[in-house]
Amino acid sequence: MNVLIVGSGAREHALAWKLAQSPHVSALHAAPGNAGTAQLGSNWPDVAATDAHGLVKRAREARIGLTVIGPEAALAAGVADAMRAVHIPAFGPSRAAARLESSKSFAKQFMSRWGIPTAAYKVVHDRKQAARALRDWPGGVVVKADGLAAGKGVIVADSAADALASIERWYDAHSLPGGGTTIILEERLEGKEVSVMAVTNGPALHRLAAACDYKRALDADQGPNTGGMGAYSPAADVVDDTQLERIDRAVLVRARDGIQRDGMDFRGCLYAGLMMTARGPYVLEFNARFGDPETQVVLPRLESDLFDLLYGIATGGEPPSPRFTSRACVGVVLASKNYPERSDPVDNLPQPPAADDVAYFWGGSKLANGTVSSAGGRVLTVAALGDTVAAARARAYEACAAIVAGAPARETLRYRADIAQRVAVP
Ligand code: AMP
Ligand code: GLY
Repeated sequence: MNVLIVGSGAREHALAWKLAQSPHVSALHAAPGNAGTAQLGSNWPDVAATDAHGLVKRAREARIGLTVIGPEAALAAGVADAMRAVHIPAFGPSRAAARLESSKSFAKQFMSRWGIPTAAYKVVHDRKQAARALRDWPGGVVVKADGLAAGKGVIVADSAADALASIERWYDAHSLPGGGTTIILEERLEGKEVSVMAVTNGPALHRLAAACDYKRALDADQGPNTGGMGAYSPAADVVDDTQLERIDRAVLVRARDGIQRDGMDFRGCLYAGLMMTARGPYVLEFNARFGDPETQVVLPRLESDLFDLLYGIATGGEPPSPRFTSRACVGVVLASKNYPERSDPVDNLPQPPAADDVAYFWGGSKLANGTVSSAGGRVLTVAALGDTVAAARARAYEACAAIVAGAPARETLRYRADIAQRVAVP
């Protein structure tokens, strides 16, 4: 079967890499794709991930039998709806169902309605309402701009006064991240974070291996939030099997049932960002797609066929449960020097040499004359397997050091040195 992957990041490269291992996949296409997907199939660089009309036209010409949608922007643009309208199976929820990610207030109402544990919250629309809501607020408060804000719309404040000062600054500058005017105020939770993804189409629901990601730019969780600087899986230091079963019951099954009862067309990946609190798992956020960089460390651990899983979900079937190796995977993101403040292009990067147990997933980039031109930002994810998290981590960092030792990477790339350190070096 011909498969189309929508997107251009390291997550989409990882999806393409795993799908290419399936005997059922005869040709892979990626729109717009990157230097990695170019080596696994063909890219459609002139078709944007959000161009639903253009994607459908090309998909019909190329006789695509399954479309796998990576980024949230493509879901919000209705790419899954457009594919299904012409009977091309799509792995990705409808635009309406993707509001579980794109609208935090929609997600909060959904969780309250279906009894999914999440922080207590209030929705406000202007500074007066914010000030009123924050009067007598007990403890810490988290301020979230509604709408898609690419991780930049969240402020974790120690007190109501600090929160109010940040809100005033947003409203004064008319610069709410995401461009809206709605703000959500949340009770600040304490605990360890973990990402749990599941694929579902209503009846079928399969949890994938858990992972932990690192959102901040610098070591020891300093610096600004990014799209993700690294991850590891499994996340046994944060969730054991008993806790995962509790997550199934309290979060995933309730979400799946709620999606069905609300009549949402959700055939895709439901990603739960969780805080493991003393009161159990609490949902910080839902995403309606695969996590990035979690996918880059979960898929190398997948032993069963990814095509069977995604095609079964997309077509309303009951695919068999995915199987994961007990080995660990650690992923480290090599970013351009000034990321996330700026994304500086990096040219002439060599393709890293193939090595056992190491996979390389390119971010936004192009392949020309055997070298890679990166758009900058998160340039490359290095994902390494090992028998333990410590072994996987050592392997990943060895590969990172080798890449950065070569010019031009030495001057232009940097990475966090502490990914999975808390597990590997207790
Ligand atoms: P979100 O975009 O909602 O996932 O929030 C981004 C980050 O802010 C999370 O990964 C947490 O580190 C933090 N955060 C969000 N909500 C809360 C909360 N209610 N309590 C504590 N930290 C939070
Ligand atoms: N790793 C967080 C996300 O994909 O949104």
